[in-house]
Amino acid sequence: MNEMYKKLATCLKSVREKTDFQPEVALILGSGLGDYAEGIRMEAAIDYGEIAGFPTSTVPGHKGRFVFGYVGEVPVVIMQGRVHYYEGYPMSEVVLPTRLMGMLGAKKLILTNAAGGVNYYYRPGDFMLIADHITSFVPSPLVGANMDELGVRFPDMSEVYSARMREIVRAEARKLGISLKEGVYVQLTGPAYETPAEIRMVRSLGADAVGMSTACEAMAARHVGLEVCGISCITNMAAGMTLQKLSHAEVQETADRVAGQFKELVTAVVGKI
Ligand code: HPA
Repeated sequence: MNEMYKKLATCLKSVREKTDFQPEVALILGSGLGDYAEGIRMEAAIDYGEIAGFPTSTVPGHKGRFVFGYVGEVPVVIMQGRVHYYEGYPMSEVVLPTRLMGMLGAKKLILTNAAGGVNYYYRPGDFMLIADHITSFVPSPLVGANMDELGVRFPDMSEVYSARMREIVRAEARKLGISLKEGVYVQLTGPAYETPAEIRMVRSLGADAVGMSTACEAMAARHVGLEVCGISCITNMAAGMTLQKLSHAEVQETADRVAGQFKELVTAVVGKI
């Protein structure tokens, strides 16, 4: 058996010793949504540190735990805090929690993140439904021996972000009066923000938003057969688009400012998918 699969099996066992909760929907919370998990009907919570061999986040302000519970009537597992490639973990570790949520029984995944706006029509505070992504600048999480238990060697990626789920997100945003952009997310490694030249490059390649997460998780999720959707909170205009310098403080400030709307949208979407 593949080493990574063994590790996943160990993690699964470790979680199952603590809870037998059966999630239907998995959620990964990005900046600004971190406390969303506290607002749900919580049944169990497991710190990443309690799971043998689990990668733990090193970013200040990023919590690290799985929360199990209900959003309305829907059983969910929430990753409160994700692991990023820039923290030094190999991609296979970065997506371990995503795969684990699939193994726990989740069928659908909602990804959220904070992202820089690359499209000149975007503004800080906008939400962008992810229509597609570009992962070509970061290593694929599927490199290495294929885990046949999870999925096929050459998975199709022609519809990573489910058209069905995107229609639901659009409809729920409309009902809530939340304006929603839709575009292409490009994942870069970070941790430095991009240069203006890099932003011009990714714009010319078709990107509308830029970030340091998400696409690798979406790819691993599709590999295990999860239905995926993703929503970015545009926290800032990307480098070189305004005179302003970029900072984590600005990213957090914007994310916090629109967190209420972001939570409303996520709750509505979970109820409909
Ligand atoms: N670049 C990369 N990642 C980000 C940004 C950005 O401008 N904003 C929030 N996450």
